[in-house]
Amino acid sequence: MTNYDAGDVLTVHGGTPLNGELRVRGAKNLVSKAMVAALLGETPSRLYDVPAIRDVEVVTGLLELHGVKVTRGALDGELVFDTSDVESANVDEINVHAGSSRIPILFCGPLLHRLGHAFIPDLGGCNIGGRPIDFHIQALREFGAVVDKSEKGMDITAPDGLKGAKLELPYPSVGATEQILLTAVRAEGVTELRNAAVEPEIIDLICVLQKMGAIIKVHTDRVIEIQGVPRLTGYSHRPIPDRIEAASWAAAALATRGDVFVKGARQADMMTFLNLFTSVGGAFEIDDAPGTGGIRFWHPGGELKAVAMETDVHPGFMTDWQQPMVVALTQARGLSIVHETVYERRLGYTAALNQMGATIQTYRECLGGTPCRFGRRNFMHSAVIAGPSKLHAADLVIPDLRAGFSHLIAALAAEGTSRVYGVKLIQRGYEDFEGKLNALGAHVELG
Ligand code: EPU
Repeated sequence: MTNYDAGDVLTVHGGTPLNGELRVRGAKNLVSKAMVAALLGETPSRLYDVPAIRDVEVVTGLLELHGVKVTRGALDGELVFDTSDVESANVDEINVHAGSSRIPILFCGPLLHRLGHAFIPDLGGCNIGGRPIDFHIQALREFGAVVDKSEKGMDITAPDGLKGAKLELPYPSVGATEQILLTAVRAEGVTELRNAAVEPEIIDLICVLQKMGAIIKVHTDRVIEIQGVPRLTGYSHRPIPDRIEAASWAAAALATRGDVFVKGARQADMMTFLNLFTSVGGAFEIDDAPGTGGIRFWHPGGELKAVAMETDVHPGFMTDWQQPMVVALTQARGLSIVHETVYERRLGYTAALNQMGATIQTYRECLGGTPCRFGRRNFMHSAVIAGPSKLHAADLVIPDLRAGFSHLIAALAAEGTSRVYGVKLIQRGYEDFEGKLNALGAHVELG
């Protein structure tokens, strides 16, 4: 553990319930895409309530490399994107961002429309499975793009322009749906996308694009139709709140027997989470006052109950809600079952929980619910959690963003002093988590 600097290690004195209030801002998984969409506009765009997280810095860096001027507006969290001088970026400079985010792949469509070519570095992101980009590449080819793999990444051109296409995704991938939306809006003719992802962040991206002048119809049964238009203007947009961050704090409140008001959280985006939260024995209360509203989540006392849960695409239980809730499930009486159907390797973090006293067994079989595409492919993608377990402190190394936050919750719930290594990864998606932890009465310090 010697190769971590002091700012990357959090000492957590656990065993204290989290109590208090915090605010969530615009959803990371919308904000980053809306920033890319700004590239398509011929006039400036304005995005409000942008969280100060590492992923926003990465996309800002990538936009600036392509000639976009990114400035702060008058309001806290307001960013302005001026795209009047979009230009090609130096390949080596783009590559500096390789490994830090998966967002670069979404630059393809906008750059092809603005400049006629795009370069995409090798992609990073969380270590939660193979995370292939085959759906993206296939879709781009069907729009007429030519994709050449080079040593440093991918060179993409569109010698005959981009034309609308009839597409069907093998799986309703969030990223591939965004790729197709960002490409189809200015492609010539109509694009019909079947088996699209329809997560709230996708619908919000469609709202952004509609403000820019795009014509997009969302039909029933995951069908989206996009009528290409020759030009788009900038937008002004207030993003949906971050429902992953909201659920993470809710799970932290439950696991530590605390009481947390998450200002900005919205019921409509979190209905599936709220159902599970109630089934486990958590309590919540919605305050829908404009501007000041949010959701209060708390442990009502007594024992939590074991549940069976399965992650899925929207409107199912989000894969990103799984890891924080599993920590709370270690405190529930009985056997809980988790079936992860979105990513094939998103249960690795449970080994650290076992090290802290949890009893979690992972399985290759599809447990509970319906068989998924990972069942026959030898992936540890189901888990049984036997509880309640008394968690004790440990030294933990953060493997990825969401698992990292779960490690943090486990350390907060455990008796004793834990050291959590690699906390900078959490800054990718959680704004000022350390300040928020302090505000909630947690005993944590860096170093
Ligand atoms: N997939 C393919 N081929 C592709 C694309 C995806 O096989 O070309 C597979 C993936 O391997 C995975 C499944 O499809 O098994 C779903 O992946 P998806 O494309 O939906 O995920 P993503 O767009 O890469 C986004 C979020 C994730 C979130 C997922 C699911 C962003 C930047 N990331 O990823 O968020 O878990 O959708 O909702 O929006 C996070 O915030 O920590 C995070 C990982």
